[in-house]
Amino acid sequence: MYEDIAETLLTKEQIQKKVQELGRIVSEEYKGLNPLCICVLKGAVPFMADLIREMTIPIEVDFMAVSSYGNSTTSSGVVRIMKDLETSIEGRHVLIVEDIIDSGLTLSYLVELLKGRKAASVKIITMLDKPERRKVDLRPDYSGFTIPDAFVVGYGLDYAEKYRNLPYIGILKKEVYTR
Ligand code: XMP
Ligand code: MG
Repeated sequence: MYEDIAETLLTKEQIQKKVQELGRIVSEEYKGLNPLCICVLKGAVPFMADLIREMTIPIEVDFMAVSSYGNSTTSSGVVRIMKDLETSIEGRHVLIVEDIIDSGLTLSYLVELLKGRKAASVKIITMLDKPERRKVDLRPDYSGFTIPDAFVVGYGLDYAEKYRNLPYIGILKKEVYTR
């Protein structure tokens, strides 16, 4: 597994420090609001798990699984909900927790959907942001790291469902895609 990584982009220590920082910021901003943190499965699982333990205020959690229509390389922006929330979000302050924003199509659909359910507020926190690839004007409210346009894995991110358990974020060797 480790031998498939060309280079480490972000170390475990860098990630941990950033998550602590983000946890402090959102704890301050959501004080008294009892936010509902929504983890977008599956990539955001490690980030969500670490982030909520850095939050020092009462929160609730829920999970959504979405898949984007289209072929494997281009997302159409139409999203199918594979697993919906268990809780009503009417009047709730919703914080969507994501692993990475790429084209932004998936999240812009999700934000509109959740706003349509009369949430009091809908914000986005993402571990990684790849703004170069954006197809819609979507900016995260809170972001860990802005990264260049490379395919990254680890800390929840996968290639063909693998590498999600790497404790750091790395760039995959080209030969792994092509073999
Ligand atoms: P959008 O709609 O913003 O979708 O294009 C973002 C989703 O695309 C996946 N993605 C990646 N997954 N390494 C990955 O493992 C990457 O570099 C990468 N870039 C985009 C991911 O599932 C994310 O939720
Ligand atoms: Mg994802």
